[in-house]
Amino acid sequence: MINAATANNAMAEPTEFPVAQVPRVNIHTFCDNQQTAETLQSAAMDRRMARAHVTIQLGGILAAVQVYQTQPTPNVLVVESHSSREGILLELGQLAQVCQPTTKVIVIGHLNDVILYRELIRQGVSEYLVAPIGQMQLIETIASLFQDPKAKPLGRIIAFVGAKGGVGSSTIAHHIAWAMSNNFGLETVITDLDLAFGTAGLNFNQDASGGMLDALGQPDRIDATLLDRMLTKLGDKLSLLNGPGGVDRDVSIDASAIETILSVIRNSVPSVIVDVPNMWAPWIKHTLLNADEVVITSTPELASLRNTKNIIDLLKVSRTNDEAPRLILNQVGMPKRPEIPAAEFAKAVGIAPSLVIPHDPQSFGAAQSNGQMLFEVAPKSKSAELLAAFTQVLLGTDKGGKVAKSGLSSLFQKFPTLRKK
Ligand SMILES: Nc1ncnc2c1ncn2[C@@H]1O[C@H](COP(=O)(O)OP(=O)(O)OP(=O)(O)O)[C@@H](O)[C@H]1O
Ligand SMILES: [Mg+2]
Repeated sequence: MINAATANNAMAEPTEFPVAQVPRVNIHTFCDNQQTAETLQSAAMDRRMARAHVTIQLGGILAAVQVYQTQPTPNVLVVESHSSREGILLELGQLAQVCQPTTKVIVIGHLNDVILYRELIRQGVSEYLVAPIGQMQLIETIASLFQDPKAKPLGRIIAFVGAKGGVGSSTIAHHIAWAMSNNFGLETVITDLDLAFGTAGLNFNQDASGGMLDALGQPDRIDATLLDRMLTKLGDKLSLLNGPGGVDRDVSIDASAIETILSVIRNSVPSVIVDVPNMWAPWIKHTLLNADEVVITSTPELASLRNTKNIIDLLKVSRTNDEAPRLILNQVGMPKRPEIPAAEFAKAVGIAPSLVIPHDPQSFGAAQSNGQMLFEVAPKSKSAELLAAFTQVLLGTDKGGKVAKSGLSSLFQKFPTLRKK
């Protein structure tokens, strides 16, 4: 079971910070090598390249020179050359005759040559990459061409989804958000996408403000200032984009509206916790496929197992450059309920749970009825300890091995680091 997850993780090339979406631009590539062409082909399928229009041709820089005798150059031109330093400079000299000044050129070469690199940058080439290139390396390079170099690094979008209704996904998402902001000083925003039945407001003892509804009504107008007005402050570093929490409004949700809202938030804060309702719709699928990380909460029952497996399989197939989702088994040990043992569950879904939380109605019930977190009402409970430890693992800050000491480490998969503010 661990092997399947590890194998998937091995395919991902984690980057330190999330990589931005490449905008709606034309990218033409001229490779000189089959391996590079295959890497480009796979990179073009990545979720971060979904908006870009990519074409791949063989023939290197000289083929590009031919093509652009008769047509304008695209927004981004990626060209590969096997030539020597002098050869590449000569070929690029010819390309310069036909290349529009607005076209951003990325050169893939086979020489690890600093002098060549400096000369290319001096001549206006946007980036020089040494083959063999990685998919994420290329995507990150292209994405960075369209970003303000002075902008803050992008925040990480972590989507929490339940494998079945009522498994505790929202409760866990809220606790993780609280711990990130309170224990780690990380500016965090919770977005409650469960417009009718969301519980984020209740769990933090807040009135439903409906900021999310306002945001969905005008996604293209949203900027950091407008967003700030829509957020409900929950703490020094924790805010909520809340649903209206009612059934009197018919709202049709558009996947791109959610994406726009989340991208504005991630430009302002390092951590965006998305509370995704347990249902299936195009916008839910889109939100999960485009999150930086997905946490699936499940209970040890058959229906949960089936749904967990389906979600994991979908994510693995569609997100080849991302870490596998993390799995939390919750409410384990509920009296009188037949349960699937964690090891069998893990084997069936192909991922070991990162966290197993016991059925703990006393602590969770107290937290819910007080509109507070377990960390406040039952800080010494095992559940509070586990949630705090999991937050630390999600953030990559378990340096002292606290989690290992709590006996959880064997269950954890490899976790990428998350930026700490
Ligand atoms: N480990 C646990 N032990 C006992 N109760 C729990 C546990 N985890 C969550 N709960 C309780 O389960 C209930 C459902 O939790 P929650 O609303 O977070 O689930 P959900 O998966 O988001 O449900 P929905 O499908 O409605 O969105 C809440 O009352 C919560 O306090
Ligand atoms: Mg929920």
